[in-house]
This record gives sequence, structure tokens and C-alpha cells, in this order.
Amino acid sequence: MDKTKILFVCLGNICRSPAAEEVMRSLVAERGLDAMFELDSAGISGYHSGELPDKRMRVHALRRGYGLTHRSRQVSAVDFPDFDLIIGMDAANLSALRGMAPSVEDARKIHAMAEYFPEGCAYDHVPDPYYEGAEGFELVLDLLEDSCRRLLDSLS
Ligand code: 4NP
Repeated sequence: MDKTKILFVCLGNICRSPAAEEVMRSLVAERGLDAMFELDSAGISGYHSGELPDKRMRVHALRRGYGLTHRSRQVSAVDFPDFDLIIGMDAANLSALRGMAPSVEDARKIHAMAEYFPEGCAYDHVPDPYYEGAEGFELVLDLLEDSCRRLLDSLS
């Protein structure tokens, strides 16, 4: 069976999307489904290309057992044919992705992470933690753990 290829996208690819990628990888491994998925992440901007995730994100993620080693890269139109699902963290990410989709079929691959939030969730996007304190990073991880679990449920 073909692998399901998922690309997580945020603005800088140093906080939310590399965390989403690793949370998802960990859930996939927990369920013994490694052979069925290929996971990656990228940023709308290339400001941090080549960098490891933000130190604060790495520290908070590691406390929950997620080692973040992804190197930031910018998303581009050539990613679209390569992935089955392209998941944006907030409305600005989604709008930028829609603007770069090469075809209508590719645009259908774009989804909001919030589509997988539990019912009654107080948030409708994954908030950018970059200018926030520790609680912003914890919130991102809480939202991602819930939504990645539901995303995986929806695919398996
Ligand atoms: P991310 O967070 O989109 O979750 O990676 C940000 C990282 C960097 C910046 C903004 C958001 N920045 O402005 O450099």
C-alpha cells in the first residue's frame, strides 16, 4: 500500500509545524504504523531555513518525550504533488498555501489543523507561540497532541 504523505505547515517552521511532525511521528510509532506514513514540515517563510526548531519549542517538546531535530525549510509549489495532505496551523498559513497550490486537485489537499480539534475546543487555530511565554508552547503541544491523535484516527 502507498504511504500517506503529510506535510505540516506554519509560518517559520521552527515552532508549531516541526512539533506537529514529531507528535504525529510518535503517535504513528506507538501504533506500529511507521511503514504507512511519511511526515515532513515546512514554513510559509524561509526566514529560518536550515535552523533547528526554536530552543523553547525543543525544551517544552522534550519534556513530553519529543526530540525535535527537523531543519527548517520553506514550502513551495513543488511540494503539492508530493504530499497527500498539507496541514496549515492558522488562517494565514492556509491562505498562503491556497495561493500557491498549482491545481484545484492540489488545493484539495490543504486542511486546517483545527479540523481535527476535539468538539468544544476553545481554539480555532494553533496560535503562534513565538512571542509568547512558556504557556504558549505548552498550549501548542496540548492542541497538537489532541489533533494529531484525531488526524491519525481519521486515517487508520
Ligand atoms: P512558527 O513560529 O510559525 O510556529 O514556526 C514562528 C517562528 C518564527 C517567526 C514567527 C513565528 N518569526 O517571525 O520569525
